[in-house]
Amino acid sequence: MTIRFALSQGSSSLKRSVMRDLLALTTRPGMISFAGGLPADELLPRDQLQDCLDTVFRRDGAQALQYGPPYAPLKEQIAFYMQGRGVACTADDIFITNGSQQGLEILSRLLFDSNASAIVEDYTFTGILQATRGHEVGLIPVPTHLQNGVDVDALKAAFRTHPTIRAAILIPDFHNPLGASVPAANRARIVELAAQYHVPIIEDDPYSPLRFEGEVVPPIKASDESGSVIYLGSFSKMLAPSMRLGWMVAPRELLPRLTVIRESIDLESSQLIQRAVAEFMARGHLAPHLTKLNAANRVRRDAMVEALARELGDLARWNTPEGGLFLWLTLPEGTDAKAIFHEAIEQNVAFVPGYAFSAADCLSSNSLRLNFSNATAKEIEEGIGRLAGVVRGNLKQLTTSQYLV
Ligand SMILES: Cc1ncc(COP(=O)(O)O)c(C=O)c1O
Repeated sequence: MTIRFALSQGSSSLKRSVMRDLLALTTRPGMISFAGGLPADELLPRDQLQDCLDTVFRRDGAQALQYGPPYAPLKEQIAFYMQGRGVACTADDIFITNGSQQGLEILSRLLFDSNASAIVEDYTFTGILQATRGHEVGLIPVPTHLQNGVDVDALKAAFRTHPTIRAAILIPDFHNPLGASVPAANRARIVELAAQYHVPIIEDDPYSPLRFEGEVVPPIKASDESGSVIYLGSFSKMLAPSMRLGWMVAPRELLPRLTVIRESIDLESSQLIQRAVAEFMARGHLAPHLTKLNAANRVRRDAMVEALARELGDLARWNTPEGGLFLWLTLPEGTDAKAIFHEAIEQNVAFVPGYAFSAADCLSSNSLRLNFSNATAKEIEEGIGRLAGVVRGNLKQLTTSQYLV
């Protein structure tokens, strides 16, 4: 006999992780994967982190292995980093998390319930969809464009017409999955609108440190005078995902509640990891690490756009992001990236079909996300060649089946 569990409304909408299913298919030997959002293994600062961990063990002993409050020197380092990005804050404004995903969940618990609605971008990070849907909040998707990111006029229209909006969750830099970035002028408008309509903005920003060309654009939070923006930062992409460490810059009056919510999830971040990351930053390792990482990512981005131009230039469109980890590929109308995904897996090349990121639950799309950071330039060339073969084969089948109908 098996017990039938009665599930909460929120959890019953979360049936299966599409991402986990897709990514599981991408790990087999010989696979060239453009699917994940990972930094390359060989670019992780292993020796430096090892050194920092050794120092922490020697210097802090048992303290590094205990429960403990958020590590003050890490908050100082993060505040200094954020000041450098134009955000007026001190260590007292920094709330440490176990990564941005945890930040999204904590904020969802704080802000959302079934009577409320939240704005998300029409294509957005799957973790945003999971955190919000888990709290039954009504999602209002707003278009996001490859050129300028979220459509500010559409955002304004949504603010005006939906009085129950509790927050808008945006990814303004090197968007996941689109690779798009919001220009400075549009950021200024977003802050103005947030203040005017009293809608908090959750600025989810794991990717801005990964800029490899173009002008640096300050975060939305940098021009937030009304305290409307909650900023989420992460060490996952700029340092190493397994640190599971990130931060929020949030209005101070929210911090006590955020702390209580967080304590219901876990009892603070690892002392060991917080201390090692603080040491990494205090030694000045972060800036040179990012320079090296971004230089390598640029070569990989170039390899991908060159291969796309060569292999699919007559059929497909894509953007050329100035940083981050992803670009967005659009295939001819009528193609279904989900069908192509399964054929591509057979040819040992993987990507994530666009529908997985859709806030509107669309089940097919002719677009897909390509990661360029986790394969070498040579693998990228080979992988895009394989992908192009699959796309062309699929189009041929489509054309033939049109004649058969
Ligand atoms: C836009 C966005 N937000 C948040 C996250 C989660 O990051 P973290 O590893 O810090 O939890 C990701 C991870 O891919 C992401 O792309």
